[in-house]
Amino acid sequence: MTKHRTQVGIIGAGPAGLTLAHLLYSQNIESIVLERHSREYVENRVRAGVLEQGTVDILYNSGVGQRLKREGLRHQGVELRFDGKGHRIDFQELVGKSITVYAQQEVVKDLITARLGYGAPLSFEAEALRLENYEHEPKIHYQHGGENHEIACDFIAGCDGFHGICRPAVSTESLQVHERQYPFAWLGILARVPPASRELIYTYHERGFSLLSMRSPEVSRLYLQCPQHEDINNWPDDRIWEELRTRMATCDAFVLKDGPIFQKGITPMRGFVASPMQFGKLFLLGDAAHIVPPTGAKGLNLAVADVRVLTRGLVEFYKQGMRDELARFSERCLRRVWKCQRFSAWMTAMLHRFPNEDSFSHEIHLAELDYVTSSRAASTTLAENYVGLPFDTPGLF
Ligand code: FAD
Ligand code: DHB
Repeated sequence: MTKHRTQVGIIGAGPAGLTLAHLLYSQNIESIVLERHSREYVENRVRAGVLEQGTVDILYNSGVGQRLKREGLRHQGVELRFDGKGHRIDFQELVGKSITVYAQQEVVKDLITARLGYGAPLSFEAEALRLENYEHEPKIHYQHGGENHEIACDFIAGCDGFHGICRPAVSTESLQVHERQYPFAWLGILARVPPASRELIYTYHERGFSLLSMRSPEVSRLYLQCPQHEDINNWPDDRIWEELRTRMATCDAFVLKDGPIFQKGITPMRGFVASPMQFGKLFLLGDAAHIVPPTGAKGLNLAVADVRVLTRGLVEFYKQGMRDELARFSERCLRRVWKCQRFSAWMTAMLHRFPNEDSFSHEIHLAELDYVTSSRAASTTLAENYVGLPFDTPGLF
């Protein structure tokens, strides 16, 4: 057994773990990051794509945002489409902010390059197996290169996603779980075809939700609402394009050109919150603590918001010996988490078809969308949440 020692043991090299490690490094706080998958795997895992301005600022101000600033696509608005017509919500005009479309795996690549560049510890194919005494004297037991290792640390950051080991390590009596399962899923594709719109289009249609997004001027990212337990084999490429065209059709003959699909996947939809998010010296961050349905594009942004709160607490602890901010970690994070759950649940309900909806509920969807796109107050509410609510405490970045 090989023994290691660090200040913060970080499990998971997703956006939460890598951003935390990077921000701590910039504040001279040591950490070791463990990731069970290979570097290639995490750098190619296709997931989210929308960054709030606050997320962009944190990455940029901490020195990992140069490529993001260069290659990220800045959007000042979004389109809501229903009843064959598009309606633009102008973020810039309504709330003076914008969002940036930049793939999650690009954020992950930038953070990995930075960390390896300054030679800080990050192990791939290193699987955490068990936590020991996380209340008082934490240790992480893991396997790497066929050998057993142990890290003794001051704190453990559980950034190991929804299926990790940190949340299950906590006794069920000390953890409250709030969960909502949605009776549908998203089928997502990447296709080599220029995006049919400069900005994102969220469409409500009687046959279900669809979303047009992009990754670059040459690559489109598109999503379709599909049944909860759908088999991807039921969706040959032609069927996907046909369904997208039907749902996105407009009275003025919108054209959606197809192109080769090079990635396809189905994502279940759920809302999930674990409370609290800290247990002695163990903190849960990102998907390890909460999942939002993707309609509000909040998953990755919430992970970074958790990291921001924990970084401030750890800096205060190591630099001033104070524990006040650390003690408030859960409370601070959960306030934002629930606001994002609320927004994501609202967007999801407004834009999707639930099983057994009748003509009455169809008309309610249309009336709500009509209201949201025609009332300045309602459009502002959407814009303010979509671009990211302001942080309610000062940060370091
Ligand atoms: P993760 O990115 O899940 O990272 C956790 C890491 O921990 C992983 O790399 C995992 O391999 C590692 N790990 C787990 N267990 C261990 C262990 N025992 N030892 C070592 N390492 C371990 N959000 C959106 O806003 N829009 C989307 O379209 C969207 N699509 C998504 C599609 C999918 C399939 C999924 C799963 C999520 C999607 N999300 C989306 C959500 C968004 O991607 C997440 O909120 C974001 O990845 C959270 O980052 P994280 O670092 O908390 O967790
Ligand atoms: C993307 C994903 C989302 O969940 C969303 O709401 C908007 C865009 C994307 O992958 O581009």
